Amino acid sequence: MGQVVTVFGGTGFLGRRVVRHLRDKGFSVRVASRQPRALSGHDPEIRPTAADIRERQSIATAVEGAFGVVNAVSLYVERGTDTFQAVHVAAAERLAEEARKAGIERFIQVSGIGADAASSSPYIRARGQGEQAVHAVFASACVVRPAVMFGPDDAFLNTLAQLLRRLPIYPLFGRGTTRLQPADVEDVGEMIGKLMQRTAAEAITVECGGPRVYTYEELVRTIARAANVDRTLVSVPFAAWHALARVAEVLPGAPVTRNQVELMEIDTVASADVPGFADFGISPRPLEEVLQSILQVPT
Ligand SMILES: NC(=O)c1ccc[n+]([C@@H]2O[C@H](COP(=O)([O-])OP(=O)(O)OC[C@H]3O[C@@H](n4cnc5c(N)ncnc54)[C@H](OP(=O)(O)O)[C@@H]3O)[C@@H](O)[C@H]2O)c1
Repeated sequence: MGQVVTVFGGTGFLGRRVVRHLRDKGFSVRVASRQPRALSGHDPEIRPTAADIRERQSIATAVEGAFGVVNAVSLYVERGTDTFQAVHVAAAERLAEEARKAGIERFIQVSGIGADAASSSPYIRARGQGEQAVHAVFASACVVRPAVMFGPDDAFLNTLAQLLRRLPIYPLFGRGTTRLQPADVEDVGEMIGKLMQRTAAEAITVECGGPRVYTYEELVRTIARAANVDRTLVSVPFAAWHALARVAEVLPGAPVTRNQVELMEIDTVASADVPGFADFGISPRPLEEVLQSILQVPT
């Protein structure tokens, strides 16, 4: 049996990749989520575990005896007591505290490019405060900040491609000039696997951006071209998006959320001053390859 790593949010979009990459590197993995699901395959070294990061005792049980912990829990829309503050700050801190108490050697906090404790956006601010709270109790924690991530089952390219096919006119976020650097979710999973393997236990923050920076308009045009559709793109002011997202958030599946709109108001591009894929020998995959497989699926 390899060293044990507990992945909170291990059933999620990123978490599932993290579990696989850790396993490929010889770790035994506990896949922690509120609703543990049976995982495909019968690898006895990958075990589902029921845990809720809002409950201290369930965290303590899930991390007991482990070597490493990854926090890949998400919250994109606030509901009742599940606020950004509660999940991205207080629960991240609780997880780091329990990990420290249990003698965990490696702690990886998944955040996002743009995280900023001084932001006026409640979501972006909570991500920044979450990083600080984790570091305050687990000084050697690693922070992984992905750009927007794509993959065959993503919410990002799939939604864009569907809307482009269905709408005669495509509404841009503002003038479409915000810059993004989409990253393959597999590459981010590999990065987390490599961070877990580091021999040094010092704190490090990494930013994971893909091979190309697009403006939002360039990205939409790239997808339209690949889908072979010709659409008129129109600018829609951010104020209108905020009003729309406030209403859309209460719909099932939340087609657009306020945190998405707030993230689209800032560039989410990896900083040249922060380590990234290249420093870990990862050559990030371009989105065009995944785009083709997404577009082949009939909508
Ligand atoms: N997706 C992106 O493009 C993107 C970009 C940048 C950063 N990120 C960051 O990457 C991380 C993972 O995001 P994702 O998109 O992979 O999320 P996701 O697909 O929504 O998965 C979230 C996971 O968290 C678990 N979870 C939620 N609340 C929990 C709780 N209270 N206790 C324990 N587990 C809980 C969920 O399982 P249960 O519901 O069963 O508990 C699920 O496994 C997040 O920090 C996110 O902000 C994502």
